[in-house]
Amino acid sequence: MTARTPQEVRASYDAHRTVRQYVTQADGTPLPMPADHLDAILYAAQRAPTDATAQLYSFIRLVRPEVRAGVAELTTNAHIATASEAFVVCLDVRRVGRVLEAAGQEVGQWPAIAVHFGIGDAVMAGQNLLTAAEMLGYQGCWIGGVLNGLEGILDLLDLPAGVLPFAALTLGLPAEEPPLRPRVPRPLVVHEDRYRDGSEEELRHAVEVMNPIAARGDKPGDWVRLLRAYWAPGGSMEKREPHLVAALKRQGLWAGGE
Ligand SMILES: Cc1cc2nc3c(=O)[nH]c(=O)nc-3n(C[C@H](O)[C@H](O)[C@H](O)COP(=O)(O)O)c2cc1C
Repeated sequence: MTARTPQEVRASYDAHRTVRQYVTQADGTPLPMPADHLDAILYAAQRAPTDATAQLYSFIRLVRPEVRAGVAELTTNAHIATASEAFVVCLDVRRVGRVLEAAGQEVGQWPAIAVHFGIGDAVMAGQNLLTAAEMLGYQGCWIGGVLNGLEGILDLLDLPAGVLPFAALTLGLPAEEPPLRPRVPRPLVVHEDRYRDGSEEELRHAVEVMNPIAARGDKPGDWVRLLRAYWAPGGSMEKREPHLVAALKRQGLWAGGE
């Protein structure tokens, strides 16, 4: 590949925006992605590197309108029904076990390892798919909202033991122009030689920097309020926690005690 300049590299990452409204056909149904585009993004996904050669992930491509509608409702993300393409990206330790069994071998017991490597592989393949789609002019959205309806998604998509959704992913031609969203200042994120806790002043500055990510219309953003809704007591992550634990147990991926 021809080397790009640092400015070009920054510019191509600045072109990334999470987009949730897509160009559709006149009747509101998804605008199909050309077959060669779909082929290229799926190729990119499978070119992701993978630990121990195992490729511990599967994508469920959501094709039928009723399946799209079902996952849209279960995840509370309506754009799953209107995107050109929508996938549920899963960790999958089932296939590697079946490869071993088909070769007459036994499969070890490693449920914590399964989650560690399976999520890693799923994320790398999914992000490859998204960036490839962005190169083709699409934008997309990762959807952690799968955790809002995990049990229902396991049922709807017939996900067997060893397979667990990490997130969904929608792709389409953008029908909105979101602003470039901020990130936490680099000194709080990139550490040198050892971990360093940021000072309270640095943390307060990070909140100032991040506030615009929570802006809605004319309302100024309040990042702490948004974080509270997700991560504070009674927030959505506490609500999701028991459902994730139940799904890990159901899929044979629970490494903790009872
Ligand atoms: C794992 C993951 C899960 C996400 N889940 C959702 C979601 O359920 N619904 C949604 O609208 N956006 C979701 N997002 C998108 C984030 O809100 C978005 O990436 C973030 O606000 C930063 O914006 P940017 O990608 O435009 O820079 C998710 C992103 C990631 C990486």
